[in-house]
Amino acid sequence: MSQPKVFITRRLPASLESLQQHVAVEVWSERQPPSYEVLLDKIREMDGLLCLLTDRIDRPLIEAGTQLKVISQMAVGYDNIDIAAATAQQIPVGHTPDVLTDATADFTWALLMAAARRVVEADRFTRDQQWQTWEPDLLLGGDVAGATLGIVGLGRIGQAMARRARGFDMRILYTNAERCDPTLEAMLNAEFVPFDELLQASDFVTIHTPLTPATHHLFSDREFQQMQRSAVLVNTARGSIVDPEALYRALSEGQIAAAAIDVTEPEPIPADSPLLTLDNLIITPHIASASRQTREKMATMAINNLMAGLQGKRLPHCVNPEVYP
Ligand code: DGY
Repeated sequence: MSQPKVFITRRLPASLESLQQHVAVEVWSERQPPSYEVLLDKIREMDGLLCLLTDRIDRPLIEAGTQLKVISQMAVGYDNIDIAAATAQQIPVGHTPDVLTDATADFTWALLMAAARRVVEADRFTRDQQWQTWEPDLLLGGDVAGATLGIVGLGRIGQAMARRARGFDMRILYTNAERCDPTLEAMLNAEFVPFDELLQASDFVTIHTPLTPATHHLFSDREFQQMQRSAVLVNTARGSIVDPEALYRALSEGQIAAAAIDVTEPEPIPADSPLLTLDNLIITPHIASASRQTREKMATMAINNLMAGLQGKRLPHCVNPEVYP
């Protein structure tokens, strides 16, 4: 009997040895992701697909995978995959929650601190030979300790941010699709407030909600107008939650003080984006989960999901458990 075939859309930071004992593995080894046409071509003969958030896994692609038994994504977010289409074909979709929570929250915190205290700007200033003397008002930022943090989405990463914020004696506000359990709120010292109240009251707003039709451009002109002029926005979730043109207007017109984003719309950010001209914006290339240890755990988890799917077992981390009877 021939071995099942899997396509892995990039080289992974984990060993494929155990997988290769049971499965014929094809790895896309280029730096750029495979094109949609390549994916479409490969999917026709594959039993399993291990993909990344850069791969568009839409309905036509899923329907073309007539042998496909499992889709395993190496990421916690899966907005690049048409889950309804996968479910309709009875294909389980795996993802990699939990293992990246702390790495992502650590990086988000780093961005928050860097934007608050203008770390990146100060580095550029120093390298540009502009440091002439100690000045009382040089590169003034805002205090983090004791400030108010607004968390949009109190899921795993939002909660990890709240835990970090407690160490800085911050007041913690949150919004969420649903109000969280009072025990959790008490543990995190987090107050549930309406979205507009969060925008108006927060010194820092951090986004940790998935990208869905309801959160697409959740931050646009109206939301920035509600925020304080001294406020800082941090986004390590998905770029399309923030309207980039509205963000440019808010930052260039002083509607908010600063922002730090690890995700953009589109990705990568176009070279001619006006956002790249702003001093009060920090931009990083979608690396919030990028610690060596975390990326290895994500890859291993994705391989385990893939293997389980090929063996007809329930995926350890399944996005659409309704495929199981
Ligand atoms: C995810 O997992 O969804 C992140 O965006 C990348 O780690």
